[in-house]
Formats: sequence, C-alpha cells, structure tokens
Amino acid sequence: MISKETIDKVFEFARVEEVISDFIALKKTGANFKGLSPFTNEKTPSFIVSPSKQIWKDFSSGKGGNVIAFLMEHEQFNYPESIRYLANKYNIEIIETNDKYENSEERNKRESLFIINSFAQEYFQNVVLEEVDVKNYLKERGLSDSTIVNFNIGFSPDKKNSFYTNASEKGFSIDYLIETGLVISNENNYIDRFRGRIMFPIKSISGRVIGFGGRIIDSNKKIAKYINSPESKIYNKSKTLYGIYESKQFIVKNDVCFLVEGYMDVVQLHEHGIKNVLATSGTSLTKDQIILIKRLTSNIIILFDGDQAGLSASMRSIDMILEEGLNVKICQFPDGEDPDSFVKKYKHDKMIEYIDEESKDLIDFIISVNNEFEKDEDKKVDLIKSILKSISLIPDLLKQEVYIKKLSSVLSIEESSLFRSFSNIKVGKKLQKSKSRQYSKNIVKIESPKKEDKSGYIYQLERQIISILLKYGVEEIVFEDIFLNKNEKGDIVESRKEIRSKVYEKIYLDLQQDEIEFTHGPFKEIYNKLINSFHNQNLISIDSFINDLEPNSSKIVSDILINDEKYQLHDWEKKNIYVKKIGSELSQLVNETILNMRRYLIDKKIHELQDNSNNETNKVLEEVMSYYRLKKLLSAKLNRVV
Ligand code: GTP
Ligand code: MN
Repeated sequence: MISKETIDKVFEFARVEEVISDFIALKKTGANFKGLSPFTNEKTPSFIVSPSKQIWKDFSSGKGGNVIAFLMEHEQFNYPESIRYLANKYNIEIIETNDKYENSEERNKRESLFIINSFAQEYFQNVVLEEVDVKNYLKERGLSDSTIVNFNIGFSPDKKNSFYTNASEKGFSIDYLIETGLVISNENNYIDRFRGRIMFPIKSISGRVIGFGGRIIDSNKKIAKYINSPESKIYNKSKTLYGIYESKQFIVKNDVCFLVEGYMDVVQLHEHGIKNVLATSGTSLTKDQIILIKRLTSNIIILFDGDQAGLSASMRSIDMILEEGLNVKICQFPDGEDPDSFVKKYKHDKMIEYIDEESKDLIDFIISVNNEFEKDEDKKVDLIKSILKSISLIPDLLKQEVYIKKLSSVLSIEESSLFRSFSNIKVGKKLQKSKSRQYSKNIVKIESPKKEDKSGYIYQLERQIISILLKYGVEEIVFEDIFLNKNEKGDIVESRKEIRSKVYEKIYLDLQQDEIEFTHGPFKEIYNKLINSFHNQNLISIDSFINDLEPNSSKIVSDILINDEKYQLHDWEKKNIYVKKIGSELSQLVNETILNMRRYLIDKKIHELQDNSNNETNKVLEEVMSYYRLKKLLSAKLNRVV
C-alpha cells in the first residue's frame, strides 16, 4: 500500500489546474479556468477548474471533484494508480507500507517485468525507424507516422537474438527476460521470441506495457501470422483488451465501445479517426474483459467479419454481454471484409454510416442470421426459444419486457404466449441453479460481488441518507415525530411530539430501531465511518474524511457532494447559514427518507414471505398481515410528512 505520508505529500503538491491542463486546453477566465468538456462533444466550454478550491466541475456531464476524481474519470485510473501518476509527475518518492497481500519481493519482480517491457518497446520502436522494408510495409497498410507512434508500434529484427544481446548488456536478468516471454531459452542458447515481427505493445488501462503481439511481414512464410507474449505475473490475456489505453477516453466520450477482433482493426480505425475501439485479439470474449469495458460505457457494438467463425463467437459474446447488464448490438461486415479493410477502402464517413445502418440488436440479429425460419415452423419455434433464452440473461426486468414485446411484434406471436414460455425458461433456470447448489454443497463457494443496481429504489434511498448525513449531519433541528398508541378504549390514537436532535442522531437511532442495514457495500462503509466520526466529534474536514475512505467510496462521496449545486466543497462551515433557513424542510426530508426506507423493507419482507409460503400457511399469513398493518401505519405517517 502507498504510505499515508506519500498520499499527503501528493495532495500537498498536486495542483488540479496543472494536472488537468496536461489533457485539456484551459483558458483563464477571472479566478477560474475554462475548457471543453472531455466527457461530451460540446461546442461551447462548460468545463471549469477552480484553482482556489482545487476542484473541477463539468457542467455538460455533471461530473466533478478533486484532482484524483479527474484522473479516475478521465484516465480511468483507480485510486492508487492516480496517486502514483501524481507522485511521478511531481517527483515525489513513493513510500510503500507493508501489506499482507503482496510482499516487496513480489512487487519488485512485477516492477522489473514492467521495466523490461518498456525497454523492449523503445528498442523495437527505434528499430522501426531504421528498417526501410518495415516502414514500407506499414505505409502499405495505410498507417501514418503519428498512429505508429501513438500505438508505439515497433519491429523486432529478423536475427537470432539482437534484443537479448541488447537487453543483457543493459544488465537485465535472464530470468526476468524469459518470464516476459521476449527471450526463449533453448539448450543454453538464448533466442528472441519475436524475430522478424511487427511489434504491437499490449498496454494496461494505465498505459504500462504488459505484453506484445507480433505479426510477420512476410506472408509467404509458413509460420503463425501472429504470436503473443505468454502469460506472466503482469500479463493476463483474459483480463486485457488491446487498445484500452489509447481508446478509453473516446469510449467514455462517445458512450459506446466498438469491439473488433484484431490488432490491425484497432489501429486502422484510429488511423481514420474512429477511436472508441478495442480488440479481443483473436480469443473469445471473457467476463473480465466485459467488466473492463463496463468501467467505460454500458454500450457495446461488436464489429465482425462475415465468416462463420466470427458468427458463432459473436453469439457467445452477446449472451455474456447481456448477462453483465450491458447493451449490445452486432454489426456484420460484407464477406471478405474486416473493419480494417473496410475503413481503409471506404474511409471514416462511410464506415460510421455503415455501422449506424447495419448494427442490429439481439432480436434483429438472431432473426437475420436464421432467415430460413419463415418456411419451417419447427425452426421458428427453436428460434424463438433461443431468443427468449438470451433475453432471460438480462438482469433488468424492464428491458426484458421491452425485448419480449418487440419479439412479439416482429414475429407476430401473441405477447401472452411469449411471456408464458418465457417464465417457463426462467423457472427452468432457477431449478437448475438450485440443483447445482445441492451437488456442490461441499465445495467452498466464492460469492461474486453483488451487482450494484444504481437505478434501484433502495440504492437511491441509501444514497439520500448518506447525502443528508454528509451535508447536514451535525445540524441540530426540531423533528416532529408521530406516535401511535392505543387509548383506554383500545382505539389507535395519534400523538405528536417535538424532539430536538442532531440530524445524525435521529437517523442513527431510527435506523437502529428497525435494525436496518445498508444493502450497498460502499454506502455501508461510508455510513459507519460517518456515524463514528460524528460520535467522536472528530469530523475535522470533509477533505480528510474523503481521503480516508476506500477509493470507490471516496468517489461516491465526491459525486454526492458535487452533484448538489447549493453545496460547495471546502465550504463546510458556510453552509450553516443555508441550513438554518430550511430547518423544517430538512426535518421533513429526513423523516420522509427514513419512512420510505422502512416501507420498502417491509414490502420486501412481505414478498419474501409470500414466495416461501408453501408450508405453515396460517403462520405466514398472520405474519404477512401484521406487516401489511405496519406498512399502512408507515404510509399514514408518510402522508403526514409529505
Ligand atoms: P492482418 O492480417 O494483419 O489484417 O491481421 P488481422 O487482425 O486481420 O488478422 P485476423 O483477422 O486473421 O486475426 C484476428 C486476430 O486474431 C489477430 O489480430 C490476432 O490477434 C489473432 N491471430 C490471427 N492469426 C493468429 C495466429 O496465427 N496465431 C495467434 N496466436 N493469433 C492469431
Ligand atoms: Mn485484417
């Protein structure tokens, strides 16, 4: 882990305006700087940097935050990556503290592999400049010098071990050279793996070289057209996508990712100004790769050549993408063309036009590749079933419904019968799941992290509570609480009581009383830490609070603060004036949020009970009824405050 001292030092030295101006042209306007948003395609600048507050705000996308938030948004770095980047920029030595996960030997090894790869990249790039044949080949393929440099494309000489000789002269250890895969050991003979190949460095999302792909330039040779670095401590094929470093900001900006097969497809599309593109490099798409894309956008368009292999690979990819909750379209190229050859021949505008017109969603795509179904009823049934199966993978129920409705109109099948067979598919899946669970009882199950459905109601409520705590936690205001009691006659009567309390105490006590737990991990962390700081009265500044959180949580906190225009970072004290004015509104907001949360949880409880109600019916029914009563009470309370 990076030490606290290093992090503090980074915060002390880093200037948000200096860091951002490495990426965006900023102009001074009064006390602030202004520029074009890097996150949208705006024409008039609405991206503001405030040197005095050390924050930025992008009005066109709503994003904003401190210097770290910028690097996380723009470069898609995580927290440590951002700190490292800044430390490097400001020449601050990074001091690491011991941590349990990675000992220093391990880290040194990884670092050594990175250094060798970076040396190799430079070496191969220098060779390119000297070799006329290679330069001609790249020119013939249509690549300009700036694209070649941007992707750091190089050439490994067609000699037995010229790279090895150079690298060992530099003093790199042979073990590490072998581990990177750049050198192969052969009976005490060391030879270069990539002899006579065009070298494509494969980079991590933060731009470090983790491996290489190498292409022959002489297509007559009867050897593999491409070879790749073997996997190593720093290169994991299934977690990598070629082009991620060069394309990430364009994927964010366009909010869509084009997914292609090959190195040349990525590079050629960049050459023609289409820069939101990544390649799987000839292997089939993995879940980890989809999760990598998910950091950037939720829209993927698969661009693939017309052959059969590409087709079945695409079908598998579609299902995996849907399962991750992303939107997917498929764009097939004419026989014999791949994205590289197509864009080279027809250029930018025609390419974009083709993608716009030919991209098909799940239903249109599957129907288009099974065109003989019209004549054959059985084929039609199979087709429908396979589409329904793909739809059942989508986590969003609303989206499922939209697709089923579309399927119904496209194939003119009754919606109701589609929904019926759809629910059969879903029940089948559930049964399968519970069966496999029985068989694997003795196997330790590793739970995958829960998906965070940000559109969900409970997510919004929990976020609201965090937001209230962050902004008004320490304020003391009057809450009107409604109590429901039975009087002597047994009727339920309402009494009101005014309670003066700090906002955080009210929230804390109410939630505790109902034993309400936050369902979203980061919110839970923030909530616990906030309540603790309030209790111990050590919430000195919001900055230090943010910096103490896990990266993900600190990003959430900045987002919450930034999104409220009335509130400004670093104005922790000033906002008192604002709060006093709206004391009564605030108490209403707090009451409403908590009541809504309780009502939601009761609803959930009722559903759970009804779902498992195959035995002890009476008892369950009683319980359900009592929950209904509680719900009614809460609704009544809620109507009071609303
Ligand atoms: P060009 O022929 O240079 O246009 O390459 P391409 O990208 O069009 O190649 P192709 O469509 O044949 O293959 C797509 C991707 O599959 C390549 O970018 C490689 O990542 C991978 N690939 C192709 N051929 C081989 C091979 O012989 N071995 C390995 N390991 N991978 C290959
Ligand atoms: Mn090609």
